[in-house]
Amino acid sequence: MPKKTSSSVYEKRRQSVLKGLGGAPLLLRAAPEILRNGDVHYSYRQASSYQYLTGFEEPKAILLAIPNGKRHRTILFVRPKDPLMEIWHGKRAGVAGALKHFGADEAIPIGEFWDCFKELSKDWDSIGYSLGEDASFDRQILAQFGTRFTGRPRRNQGLPTFVDPRPVIHALRQIKQKEEIECLDEACRITTKGHKVAMAICRPGMYEYELQAEFEAVFRNEGSPRNGYPSIVASGANACCLHYTANNRKIRKGDLVLLDAGAEFGHYSADVTRTFPASGKFSAAQRAVYQAVLKVQKKCIKAVKPGMQFMKVHALAQLETTKALLDLGLLKRGDVKKLVKKKAYMKYYMHGLGHWLGMDVHDCGAYTHRDGKPVELKPGMVLTVEPGIYIAANDKSVPKEFRGIGIRIEDDVLVTRGGNRVLTEAIPKEVRDVEALAQS
Ligand code: GLY
Ligand code: MN
Ligand code: MN
Repeated sequence: MPKKTSSSVYEKRRQSVLKGLGGAPLLLRAAPEILRNGDVHYSYRQASSYQYLTGFEEPKAILLAIPNGKRHRTILFVRPKDPLMEIWHGKRAGVAGALKHFGADEAIPIGEFWDCFKELSKDWDSIGYSLGEDASFDRQILAQFGTRFTGRPRRNQGLPTFVDPRPVIHALRQIKQKEEIECLDEACRITTKGHKVAMAICRPGMYEYELQAEFEAVFRNEGSPRNGYPSIVASGANACCLHYTANNRKIRKGDLVLLDAGAEFGHYSADVTRTFPASGKFSAAQRAVYQAVLKVQKKCIKAVKPGMQFMKVHALAQLETTKALLDLGLLKRGDVKKLVKKKAYMKYYMHGLGHWLGMDVHDCGAYTHRDGKPVELKPGMVLTVEPGIYIAANDKSVPKEFRGIGIRIEDDVLVTRGGNRVLTEAIPKEVRDVEALAQS
């Protein structure tokens, strides 16, 4: 079980961000609470970058990190303790807790933010703040600097330079540190257990949401507080809808079930897809398509290593899937390279190879650099490798037995110095292993 990340880790991350911002103080806000109806909110999860830089999970909080020689000064604005509100909504760290447990140099009630900010920022020439995320907050920030609005002349006239901190933060988040890999490993361990249970207990006659309840119970029981994204439990032709989440169909005999689900642990998410036969045995057509996708997936995983470009692995998936579609007879004969160029595979493989994975399921981090050069894989990067083939139920151009088959196989892959490590390799994906578990 990974240890709780220490406040010194967050402090080092803030220092790295400030270095990347070239002297600009950083202003970052916690995720907003979002009202669902009346006085009921959607369940709260901290914004990943805020979590990454503070470890602070509460809403209504602001981080100011101000460069100060070789170090920096961290000011956390937080909700103060409030016994009545805590009876209704739960404990708050409060000002004392923010100081004691979250490595703040200063902690201040959130209600005092604007007065403090006005004073602190009056001589700033630049500020690390993402304009454009919240128009109303942007206006308030701008008002602090404009003499026209506040009537308070600044020593440095005019607006400071706004530096978007996201590229800096995202580049840091793209390379996972030891404590992050431990969380991802735990998320993947839990996800593995859930997927194995799902494969074992799935039976025709169950509703997709019943199956969902079973493996999500495993996620919770194993220590995952929430999923990294809404689970996709897609039986039969529902598997051809890439982000199907209705999960309300009755699973039938002969169906394949495509299960795309990942547990979150310590704010890091797994993202795994397995496709298995509900009745325990693939039909000949299902097996043929499955083997084809598996072959592509294994080739792509093998290609993941330092120095390789993400976009090249992506292109490899397109090439290998095109070859597979030709072998299966789903694409008519033709020159493979020409078919790839024409994107003929798009009819059956309409998404990318995968994506960065971390605190967010589709994690931050660039795929190409600003100059357009493709990003090369480096140790510590984590990506999903998830090729698939999806044949629409009404595709009259293919034999009947192929219609409505949707298969995706998705694993989470950590780039290591020597190549890669598949964090989710313990989830069966060979035909014999999948069938054995599905029949158990
Ligand atoms: N679970 C969504 C995806 O695989 O991208
Ligand atoms: Mn997925
Ligand atoms: Mn994915």
